[in-house]
Amino acid sequence: MTDRVVVAGAVYSGGRLLAARRSAPEELAGRWELPGGKLEPGERPEQALVRELREELGVETEPVARIPGEWPLGPGYVLQVWTARLLSGDPRPLEDHDELRWLGPDETDAVDWLDQDRPAVAEAARLLRDG
Ligand code: CDP
Repeated sequence: MTDRVVVAGAVYSGGRLLAARRSAPEELAGRWELPGGKLEPGERPEQALVRELREELGVETEPVARIPGEWPLGPGYVLQVWTARLLSGDPRPLEDHDELRWLGPDETDAVDWLDQDRPAVAEAARLLRDG
């Protein structure tokens, strides 16, 4: 069986990275993640990412590059991450999250990231610092 893909965005704007605090489910609530969600049937990851970021944050984004790697999320799911440029809108926690933070290059360790997001966050932070 092929694992199903969850896609998440390392959304950046003005040299800062967007972090989103999950409000559910209970075991993940309070931890921070790169926002995203599951692919729907027939969707490409980049399409799913744009849709999820629109639904969850009310913003328009453009996927830029895949962060190399793939991280297991438990049975049947893997996490893939893209960097994404904010095109328009001011992100708001419309669903799944109760707080958002823009993190500068020296602040990317300031929140309690979900374990599975940490390798991609580290790479996104490196890209932020090195341009
Ligand atoms: O919104 P949707 O139901 O499509 O997906 P989700 O609930 O946001 O994410 C599906 C699963 O992926 C959840 O178990 C999340 O914890 C996990 N996930 C993650 O581990 N890291 C992310 N950056 C995004 C989602």
